[in-house]
Amino acid sequence: MKDLAIETDNLTKKFGKVIAVNDLNLKVPTGIIYGYLGPNGAGKTTTIKMLVDSLFPTSGRIQLFGQEVKKNKTRVFRNIGYVPEHPVYFREYSGEKLLRYVGKIFNFSKNEIQTRISKILNLVNLVEARHRAIGKYSAGMKQRIGIAQALMNDPDLLILDEITSNLDPLGRSHIIDLLKQLKKEGKTIFVSTHILPEVQKMNADHIGILNKGRLFAEGTINHLQKLFGENMIKIRPKDDRIRKALESKDFIQDIVDDEKYLIVKTSDREATWNFLSRFSLENHMPIIDFIGSGMEIEDIFMKVLENNSAKEVAKA
Ligand SMILES: Nc1ncnc2c1ncn2[C@@H]1O[C@H](COP(=O)(O)OP(=O)(O)O)[C@@H](O)[C@H]1O
Ligand SMILES: [Mg+2]
Repeated sequence: MKDLAIETDNLTKKFGKVIAVNDLNLKVPTGIIYGYLGPNGAGKTTTIKMLVDSLFPTSGRIQLFGQEVKKNKTRVFRNIGYVPEHPVYFREYSGEKLLRYVGKIFNFSKNEIQTRISKILNLVNLVEARHRAIGKYSAGMKQRIGIAQALMNDPDLLILDEITSNLDPLGRSHIIDLLKQLKKEGKTIFVSTHILPEVQKMNADHIGILNKGRLFAEGTINHLQKLFGENMIKIRPKDDRIRKALESKDFIQDIVDDEKYLIVKTSDREATWNFLSRFSLENHMPIIDFIGSGMEIEDIFMKVLENNSAKEVAKA
């Protein structure tokens, strides 16, 4: 088995009553692009902030490259590059000056800094803009200088929060090409987004779908397609009593609504069926449909999205 770049055990973050991240067990093998996918508010940024130690977990554990972050901070973080969701750079700094500044933080020699800067500016295609103020960069250039600063320490793991979200199609495709290139160089890339086609364009090797702080599904695209085929079940009638009864079962991992169906993610199809049959008899409520969802990831993700936005509207 491949080593893991990121592993979390029951990672949880609460903000008062809001559980932003809920018992998260992430496993990210080294050398891959991992697409961390979820609608706005799902808990992606909160997860990432805990990974990079800018937010304390309420509970749970984080290991990066097999080392507990809490105990090995300096060593672990020398090996990580991070681009936040809303980076703030000195607007008047030129791209090159920013990189030199970061190089100094890492205590590299002047020569070393210059060598790294030349290589990285080339890679992110900012050689010509190197002396221009970052404040005058386009959105795409800003994201590329963000990646450049994250690469100064030549990290094995890059953590990128919504790196493509505010870019036009050309800007996006530049970033996506860059990520693929970095993967070829052996880096592990953990990238969050709320846009499904993005992880597909990146050829993400693994994806994790986050819904309300919980990992709704995780694995390779193939694995997920299989999982959604077999362990996602559509149930009719879409009835609140059925939903409530199912919610309390430990083999039910998640429930989302369709127009007509309750779509249930279960770890045990048979137990689900047995339970529902009994429930149906006891409550005189015939189960009209109990079918494998046969859904593609796109469909499932759309349902997760719709469910979340319905919740948002209800709150507003
Ligand atoms: N500092 C905070 N204080 C209170 N609630 C927060 C804070 N940060 C995030 N949240 C809440 O946690 C949830 C997850 O947010 P976030 O991690 O930003 O999601 P995402 O990045 O997936 O859009 C949301 O409900 C958000 O409102
Ligand atoms: Mg976010």
